[in-house]
Amino acid sequence: MTIRPLTSSDAPAYQHIRQCALKDVPQFVGPSAEWEALCDLAELQSRMDRYESEGTYLFGCFLDDVCAGVAAMSRKLNPKYSHKVFFWGFYILPAYRGRSLGRHLMEARIEFARSLPGVRFATLQVTTTNEPARILHQRFGFVSCGIEPQALHLDGKFYDFELMQLDLNRAV
Ligand SMILES: CC(C)(COP(=O)(O)OP(=O)(O)OC[C@H]1O[C@@H](n2cnc3c(N)ncnc32)[C@H](O)[C@@H]1OP(=O)(O)O)[C@@H](O)C(=O)NCCC(=O)NCCS
Repeated sequence: MTIRPLTSSDAPAYQHIRQCALKDVPQFVGPSAEWEALCDLAELQSRMDRYESEGTYLFGCFLDDVCAGVAAMSRKLNPKYSHKVFFWGFYILPAYRGRSLGRHLMEARIEFARSLPGVRFATLQVTTTNEPARILHQRFGFVSCGIEPQALHLDGKFYDFELMQLDLNRAV
């Protein structure tokens, strides 16, 4: 298994995963990942080329050259907010789940966040019905900071979001 940053040359595989996620679990897909699934490839490539300068980093997990999972993070450039990074776009293709890929991707993402000067906290939002993801995040030391009720509305149903935060100085 290899975990590495994704570049615009990975855009076709990356977009394929985003499209799978949107079909599989739309209630767990946030707005940035949804945009990536729905935009055209050229637009995604040019956005991926700009991501790093805008504070966004993408990672892919590869098994036998297949991109089996992805995870993203974004840091605001405004110094008032740059002490934290927002984790988003975490998805493992169903055929590869339960084989520790998610754990390794999360470890890589946390390690990278710790390497960014001045970053102290990682935050994320998880749909409260998403038990596997909530358990995974708790195991990494993320703690709940509150619930946003009716945060997402899909097919006539409301879903709540749990906001979670990890103090990157805290070893788990
Ligand atoms: C959540 C997700 C990323 C986990 O990926 P994965 O590769 O299957 O996870 P791993 O095999 O690395 O499991 C790591 C830990 O997560 C937890 N976990 C993973 N799947 C679980 C499940 N079905 N039920 C309960 N806990 C689970 C366990 O604590 C597990 O550790 P363990 O194997 O020692 O028990 C994957 O299920 C997924 O892509 N889901 C759909 C998209 C999604 O929910 N993304 C997160 C949005 S916030």
